Amino acid sequence: DKGNHRHFMAKEIHEQPEVVGRTIAHYVDLATGRVKLPTALPFDFAKLRRLVISSCGTAYYAGLVAKYWFERLARLAVDIDVASEFRYREMPLDEGELALFISQSGETADTLASLRYAKGEKQHILSIVNVPTSTIARESDVVMPTLAGPEIGVASTKAFTCQLAVLLALAIAAGRARGTLSEAEEQRLVASLVAVPGAMADSLSSEREIEHLARELAKARDVLYLGRGPAFPLALEGALKLKEISYIHAEGYAAGELKHGPIALIDEAMPVIVLAPHDAVFDKTVSNVQEVAARGGKIILIGEERAVEEAGVATFAAIGMPALDPVIAPIVYAVPVQLLAYHTAVVMGKDVDQPRNLAKSVTVE
Ligand code: M6R
Repeated sequence: DKGNHRHFMAKEIHEQPEVVGRTIAHYVDLATGRVKLPTALPFDFAKLRRLVISSCGTAYYAGLVAKYWFERLARLAVDIDVASEFRYREMPLDEGELALFISQSGETADTLASLRYAKGEKQHILSIVNVPTSTIARESDVVMPTLAGPEIGVASTKAFTCQLAVLLALAIAAGRARGTLSEAEEQRLVASLVAVPGAMADSLSSEREIEHLARELAKARDVLYLGRGPAFPLALEGALKLKEISYIHAEGYAAGELKHGPIALIDEAMPVIVLAPHDAVFDKTVSNVQEVAARGGKIILIGEERAVEEAGVATFAAIGMPALDPVIAPIVYAVPVQLLAYHTAVVMGKDVDQPRNLAKSVTVE
């Protein structure tokens, strides 16, 4: 049932404040303002030397965002790879470490094969899945569910933001166990996490503007997405979302990589979508935007209104975001990224929920 939406994807984008809120409530104790995992862990975060993560597509990008969180908040080294590479990489793994698998369906063939490889290497197996009865869930030592509800649109939206919410809660728990976060820091981070659904609801209010912008994007042959830090995987996710439903060629790049090649592509016909949360590397991102502006690139800046004004860059358009703790930016900034892809595909008359050549669940290699 699409409710009053034209497509499942639209419904699933709009459901996010609710389902992400429900997922967060499953992982935090609102009374104490601390993380409370729904299941006991069969391993000790404090004893780990390394975390390996493996997943595919959008779930892989969730893992890439989490790498920043685990490394920063818990000082835990993270190795991550797409499952189709991980399963054949023959990477050496020390016994008793942790392997994390992320999957909406819990049936993705490559992710499952990676899980089995890690099991053979005597890793503890933790999975984050949306389908609790799935094969990946069954074969894991411990399952952390996302409570996104059934996701019907082939393009993953609400499963992604729920995965991020669980991953942030886990990274905070890891930080506490490893002694890298104090209780006060935990409470501050949990308060930020709890603010996510409200911030997502605020960011949905930019939909009108985004619909308007989508008419511009629909004319493009190629689109570049840029971001730094945890906004870099979000740039990759933005490009994937646009490609899969609008069939426009798009690429995500770490903003700092621009001058190592992709800047050669910039001209007046090339929309460049810049994800610029107000974080420690905001100024660096702004200077990259200036390099794009100097070459006539059509900049669409996604950032906090005040920050964007102060940065004073010449943009084609800006999408204003609410002021927020940068740690939660990857979750909230997913909303405009999804809406841009969605409305561009709708303007182009594409089959948004069932794009050509794609299946919801990739159960063969
Ligand atoms: O079910 P999974 O999360 O394991 O699926 C992984 C990918 O196949 C999936 O995220 C795919 O990339 C989506 N179509 C992206 O929108």
